[in-house]
Amino acid sequence: MFRRAAAGVRGGVERTFIALKPDGTQRGLLGDVIKRFEQKGYKLVAIKAIVPSRALAEKHYEDLKTRPFFKGLVSYMTSGAAPVIAMVWEGKDVIRQGRRLIGATNPLEAQPGTIRGDYCISVGRNIIHGSDSFESAEKEISLWFGKSEVYDWQYGNAEWLYADN
Ligand SMILES: Nc1ncnc2c1ncn2[C@@H]1O[C@H](COP(=O)(O)OP(=O)(O)OP(=O)(O)O)[C@@H](O)[C@H]1O
Ligand SMILES: [Mg+2]
Repeated sequence: MFRRAAAGVRGGVERTFIALKPDGTQRGLLGDVIKRFEQKGYKLVAIKAIVPSRALAEKHYEDLKTRPFFKGLVSYMTSGAAPVIAMVWEGKDVIRQGRRLIGATNPLEAQPGTIRGDYCISVGRNIIHGSDSFESAEKEISLWFGKSEVYDWQYGNAEWLYADN
């Protein structure tokens, strides 16, 4: 029987921040992204459409602020031509598995079958973001969502999804 570990516990049930970037929204790819996380067995616990402020986008990508593409990256995320679709997904090992579902940063290196491998070509238009570590996930979830926007709920059939091993 599936026993619920506290969300965010490393190695147990985790939460990760996944964001469809404005190019993904423009290209109508939200349904497929949600489908891939859902069909794996992960659970959507928060979602909203948002055009981030410059401050939010800069804080989100602050580790990259010295990189030559940083300015363009922030403009791309904040242009308002389409919103970012911000999400929090929950489940066992979802941080690492989310990155695997998404694929390599450069879509030309991403394996076919991954989201970037199937849907995009340019690193500067790679349609989706996923937290790369437990620490990033915690930081990003609290940056994009208030506590009351993230829901604690259970799949009624969780015991058919999770075993002890
Ligand atoms: N050389 C580059 N030229 C243009 N944009 C880039 C380049 N490298 C990275 N980026 C953009 O910056 C984002 C963040 O880069 P990072 O190194 O964190 O890769 P990632 O973790 O795979 O992507 P993300 O953080 O968006 O999930 C990339 O997803 C891409 O949109
Ligand atoms: Mg990253």
